[in-house]
Amino acid sequence: MAITETSTLSTTTSEQYLEDSLCSEINQCSLLEQTHSSNPSDSPSHHCLNVDLHIERAWAHWKKLGEPKFIVAPMVDNSELPFRMLCRKYGAQAAYTPMLHSRIFSENAKVRNLEFTTCKEDRPLFVQFCANDPDILLEAARLVEDQCDYVDINLGCPQRIAKRGNYGAFLMDNLPVVKSLVESLARNLHVPVSCKIRIFPNLQDTIIYARMLEDAGCSLLAVHGRTRDEKDGTKFRADWNAIKDVKAAVRIPVLANGNIRHMDDVTSCLEETGVNGVLSAESLLENPALFAGFRTAEWVDGEEQCYDGGLLDQADLLVEYLKLCEKYPVPWRMIRCHVHKLLGDWFSIHPQVREDLNKQSVLTFEFLYDIVNRLKELGTRIPLYVKSGQAGHSPNGLLNHPLHST
Ligand SMILES: Cc1cc2nc3c(=O)[nH]c(=O)nc-3n(C[C@H](O)[C@H](O)[C@H](O)COP(=O)(O)O)c2cc1C
Repeated sequence: MAITETSTLSTTTSEQYLEDSLCSEINQCSLLEQTHSSNPSDSPSHHCLNVDLHIERAWAHWKKLGEPKFIVAPMVDNSELPFRMLCRKYGAQAAYTPMLHSRIFSENAKVRNLEFTTCKEDRPLFVQFCANDPDILLEAARLVEDQCDYVDINLGCPQRIAKRGNYGAFLMDNLPVVKSLVESLARNLHVPVSCKIRIFPNLQDTIIYARMLEDAGCSLLAVHGRTRDEKDGTKFRADWNAIKDVKAAVRIPVLANGNIRHMDDVTSCLEETGVNGVLSAESLLENPALFAGFRTAEWVDGEEQCYDGGLLDQADLLVEYLKLCEKYPVPWRMIRCHVHKLLGDWFSIHPQVREDLNKQSVLTFEFLYDIVNRLKELGTRIPLYVKSGQAGHSPNGLLNHPLHST
């Protein structure tokens, strides 16, 4: 089946997401002032009652979803339906959509149909929006609330496009707007609101921020343990200690994001921070079977005898992904991203195959399946590894990693 290549209607791309940007100073005083409620009806006892009920509901919802621990992070152009379904098959227990632009999404049905697709097996699902206007956000959220388990607000995008559009991490400079976004959804939707944040350079600011979100009605908080300036994930380690402190400071479920590259990271992060689950982004792109215990060769150095290789490789995963794309069509630009990510190491050995792909302005599934066959015929073998006797993916789809039963 061939789908005509579509040009993007979205204003964001993964390249834009990854580009560098400037950053402005954070005003600590305004942070403290802005988070205080000026509403006279918000008396302490009334507030406590509401907050207790909110926390209770947040946990009931999380438990109803089965308390997912292994979660596909939101990724523009990359966490689309077929990729989410692939990750789910290999152990992911929940997933975020790519960030959707609330205004464009609510105004343009064509964008909606192209950029947001789902199916009944695609649950639990977080649908993520960027926004800076509570009414527009609510309008967009209402269009998806019946098809997801959380409507998520992107408060972490640090890129230039977010600075220009005044959303994502740039709203950290305007907490009253953030509060109004969360309140608008929490009051009007029947599905809970979640937020994905970055940390402030100062821990106390991060804690005040997290508590403000909880008080405003946020039911689940995903904390990316890097500041707005720490854009390059390969240069800056995520601060798990800050995530641990946020977890201890709020009462709603908290997820950790940053530095989840294989299942040992998952175990350490859960233990060290006490969070309720983890998000992985960049590493899942290369290895969508991460949550089933598979890892790339990069993470087996020095103890190779303890690992089994060859049960699965990235080309196998690409074929599975392409089949899912035939079933659940998505724009070709997304498919192209995944081909490059999954076969990046294979292309380094056979760069002419990558060049042939790049020359192809219109893609077809036949062409892409053929690329995989060519690489295999050229003798390329780059296995994914699993710890001997510990993890893996059995043919019936059941997983035997110890963490899956805890
Ligand atoms: C290609 C790409 C696209 C991303 N798009 C989004 C997005 O739409 N929304 C968002 O909140 N974060 C986005 N992120 C950030 C990730 O969700 C995540 O916070 C970040 O990559 C850190 O996680 P990691 O260390 O596992 O990569 C994106 C990251 C990548 C690599």
